[in-house]
Amino acid sequence: MIKLAPSILSANFAALLEDVLKAEEAGAEYLHIDVMDGHFVPNLTVGPLVVEALKGRCRMCLDVHLMIENPDVFIDRFIAAGADLVTVHAEACRHLHRTLSTIKEKGAKAGVALNPATSPRLIECILPMADLVLLMTVNPGFGGQQFIPEVLPKIRQVRNMLDERGIKAEIQVDGGINASTAAAAVEAGATVLVAGSAVFGSGDIPSAIAQLRTAAMR
Ligand code: DX5
Ligand code: ZN
Repeated sequence: MIKLAPSILSANFAALLEDVLKAEEAGAEYLHIDVMDGHFVPNLTVGPLVVEALKGRCRMCLDVHLMIENPDVFIDRFIAAGADLVTVHAEACRHLHRTLSTIKEKGAKAGVALNPATSPRLIECILPMADLVLLMTVNPGFGGQQFIPEVLPKIRQVRNMLDERGIKAEIQVDGGINASTAAAAVEAGATVLVAGSAVFGSGDIPSAIAQLRTAAMR
């Protein structure tokens, strides 16, 4: 069963809850919240206040993607604000095992993300602790970029690594996912599809979600 995770990065921030509820009514399972610090990525977005504002207003899994340096400093605050899943970048963690342990101890699910150029070998040792592996299919920082097809073999590689070890973690793909690219990502082994511009930038949220769902089932 493929899950859809619309990213609020492309939503209308002046009517955020309205957009979020449209996505939920259309059947989205996760709500992807992109947190950027202007250091790890060249852009700034939102913090725990936005997670707190959405907590309790929707039933979707609040999926917080931290594109920040030194994420350990903020984990507590995002979980206290209501994050159900916290994903950190392996490239930003000096002690990845400790960081993932902290997320789980504080009661959230733990995700680990890799940029397009990062090898999955970097996370091999901590795979049993991961609830989700996020494979970036664009260089993180902005919505509306083009899917990088060179990541497809890596999705397959992580799929095999998980299957060989009997690990049930989800594989999430993020960046340039739309009705044309979703099928290839799913075929390679992705189980959670993030989509920002394809959903909230589409002008018709329910039909965009329906199109993604159909594409993912192909
Ligand atoms: C990019 C973010 C993505 C972004 C995806 O750095 O991590 O979640 O919102 O946007 P689209 O789907 O438009 O590529
Ligand atoms: Zn993201």
